[in-house]
Amino acid sequence: MHIHAYEKLWLAASVMLILLLVGSVTYGAIGPGVAMVADSEPTIDAGGLDEDERFSEPRVEQVGENEYEAYVVSFQFGFQPDPIVVPENSTVTFYVTSRDVIHGFEVAGTNANTMVVPGEVSEIKVEVEEPQEYGLICNEYCGAGHHAMEGKVNVVS
Ligand code: CUA
Repeated sequence: MHIHAYEKLWLAASVMLILLLVGSVTYGAIGPGVAMVADSEPTIDAGGLDEDERFSEPRVEQVGENEYEAYVVSFQFGFQPDPIVVPENSTVTFYVTSRDVIHGFEVAGTNANTMVVPGEVSEIKVEVEEPQEYGLICNEYCGAGHHAMEGKVNVVS
């Protein structure tokens, strides 16, 4: 078959367009995915949290004038520590992991929300202002007690 030079040009142009489209779609799909991966540090031993420097004693630590880090362990069916107590007008970075299955970590009524995967550490940074008590809920089905899995985040003065 003979293809005219112009047709070849158009063919090349449309192939380029398709590649560009595929490229942007892939980029769009990868973007948030990569962000999620970057949000969690891989490989922590979910079965060995008792020996882990950060998670053997789930806690809130002050790391700056108004900066805190919260090390939180989720499990069937709750969160440690509970309540998580943080001072008002501060920035809190939550590091959350699981000792068993996939859980959710959602501070009710806020956009603070992440999935918690055993073997990974999810990181989520939150600005807290006024003293208030927040519910902490698990939004990933994790077993028979999922609906009752909850904790508290208390912002105190
Ligand atoms: Cu933990 Cu649902």
